Amino acid sequence: MNIQSPRSVLSPNDLAAYWMPFTANRAFKQAPRMLAGAKDMHYFTTDGRKIIDAAAGMWCSNAGHCRAPITEAITKQAAEMDYAPPFQFGHPQAFELASRIAALAPKGLEQVFFCNSGSEAADTALKIALAYHATRGEAGCTRLIGRERGYHGVGFGGISVGGMVNNRRLFGALLNGTDHLPATYNHEHQAFSKGEPEWGAHLADELERLVVLHGKDTIAAVIVEPMAGSTGVLVAPKDYLKRLRAICDKHNILLIFDEVITGFGRLGYAFAAERYGVVPDMITFAKGVTNGAVPMGGVIVREDIHDTFMKGPEHIVELFHGYTYSAHPLACAAGLATLNIYRDEGLFERARQLEPLFADAVMGLRKEPNVTDIRTVGLTAGIDLAPKDGQGGLRGLTALACAFNDHDLMLRVAGDTLALTPPLIVSEAQIGEIIDKVAGVIRSVA
Ligand SMILES: Cc1ncc(COP(=O)(O)O)c(C=O)c1O
Repeated sequence: MNIQSPRSVLSPNDLAAYWMPFTANRAFKQAPRMLAGAKDMHYFTTDGRKIIDAAAGMWCSNAGHCRAPITEAITKQAAEMDYAPPFQFGHPQAFELASRIAALAPKGLEQVFFCNSGSEAADTALKIALAYHATRGEAGCTRLIGRERGYHGVGFGGISVGGMVNNRRLFGALLNGTDHLPATYNHEHQAFSKGEPEWGAHLADELERLVVLHGKDTIAAVIVEPMAGSTGVLVAPKDYLKRLRAICDKHNILLIFDEVITGFGRLGYAFAAERYGVVPDMITFAKGVTNGAVPMGGVIVREDIHDTFMKGPEHIVELFHGYTYSAHPLACAAGLATLNIYRDEGLFERARQLEPLFADAVMGLRKEPNVTDIRTVGLTAGIDLAPKDGQGGLRGLTALACAFNDHDLMLRVAGDTLALTPPLIVSEAQIGEIIDKVAGVIRSVA
């Protein structure tokens, strides 16, 4: 056998071995954007620059970075108990965190199932929906409905109900029995909307069409993001979610809100369900639950859906689903400390109060070159730029790099849409600073 030294030993700083997720790897490795530290509203680069974070990392760090109570809670937990098996064993923080999360959710959603990411949360919710109908003897209720331009992570369930072509097209036949509602975005009717667009509630009625098309009692669940983040901040039209709820009720279809982005204050409330006055049957969450400090996701489930499973012999596992790291002690410690910060600093309310100022500030960019639309909701904005040279995504990626390299700004891009989602601790002055920098970026990539 020819044993060679591993390349990493020969050249410890070689960039080759890490196949980066959702990244243009070759472009990145020619001009890496390296982060070395973070505090509150800022990142610090390996070459010592201070970068203002207009993306909360990746929609995660709603309380800002490296908050002392979270860091301390994780450190303490790691020393006390690093790991606890979640199958047939428990630890107190898992139960406490579940209660705290359920208390933030709309009344009736009382049960929390933990996993480790938004993708797992989406797949977990879809599986619970299927198992729920099966347990009730509704054997034909197996179809899962998502929405065009929806994002529910990268598991096979999530990409099957998701509506982003590049996330689907190379991965085979996907799940059987899915279908999609139309996307809610329409440039002609909605351009430059602040908050929920007036036009578009009727698009929920497409669900009635799918019921007719596939047959009554065939649809198990509908999953939608109250605000589609990953495809460019597409805000639910006024009354759209209410209408979807009514149609689901009429046809015994479970309604799942994917709140991986909108949960924990992004839209000014603990969950978007509260903002919209619509109670779904399940809510998925991740990201903000631990402020991004430790991976965690989960599903909040309606009490009686949970109770449907709590029948039969008590020594039998009720739901054959779970993860080695469900309710990981470090994630639970981080989650509890995070929820304390959100509560003590009133960050959800803060986002709500800042929303008008933030929306006005972002709309001030509408006259910048190549801006074709701006959408705002909560502390979130999407700014569409016209594609460069007919190549979708080129201007967006150039803007991301230019923001980081030349303007000390971190933002997100989705194709040619710039997404702004600052931590909820952002000050008014920092909103001004971010907008000035974004204007500079847009001009630089004109
Ligand atoms: C709405 C939504 N669902 C699911 C996910 C997937 O989360 P994760 O990357 O943690 O698997 C994301 C990630 O951005 C998301 O925005």
